[in-house]
Amino acid sequence: MAKAVYPGSFDPITYGHLDVIERAAAVFDEVNVAVVVNPNKSPLFSLAERVELIEACTKHLPNVTITQFEGLLVKYVAEQGAQVIIKGLRAISDFEYEFQMALMNRKQNPNIETLFMMTSSKYSYLSSSMAKEVLRLGGCVRDLVPPLVEARMRQAIKGDDAK
Ligand code: PNS
Repeated sequence: MAKAVYPGSFDPITYGHLDVIERAAAVFDEVNVAVVVNPNKSPLFSLAERVELIEACTKHLPNVTITQFEGLLVKYVAEQGAQVIIKGLRAISDFEYEFQMALMNRKQNPNIETLFMMTSSKYSYLSSSMAKEVLRLGGCVRDLVPPLVEARMRQAIKGDDAK
């Protein structure tokens, strides 16, 4: 049974992430979306909120599970019994950093492959941080994130601004 892990911050999940999850779910028996605990970032959403939002957006995909993890990615992937790390590529500019990470991950565990999936070109400009900035500045994110995510972003940003 081929199992893949799709890791990321997902702060929050966007239509670009969802596009990659759907592509991966069509190829693998099981896809584990792994939300990372990154001590270097101050996220808009807590880990639990990010997991909840991804769960809500992937309800239609029975072979997708959502978890959270902290520490070395390849260790986590091996613990999950998976063989593949999925990464989404939007543009050439993503490639250099992703290439470096893929080779470092291979160095740490040669049994785990990194597989890059191209996002749909309509999401090639999209990132969570840009969606957050657009919303903060009063722009429209309708085509960037699912409606539930937009509603939760509005609440969270309002809460942040009140601080
Ligand atoms: O969505 P992001 O923030 O671009 O995802 C980055 C992520 C989570 C894939 C990357 O930071 C990662 O793999 N973190 C786990 C820690 C680790 O294993 N680091 C060594 C990778 S070379």
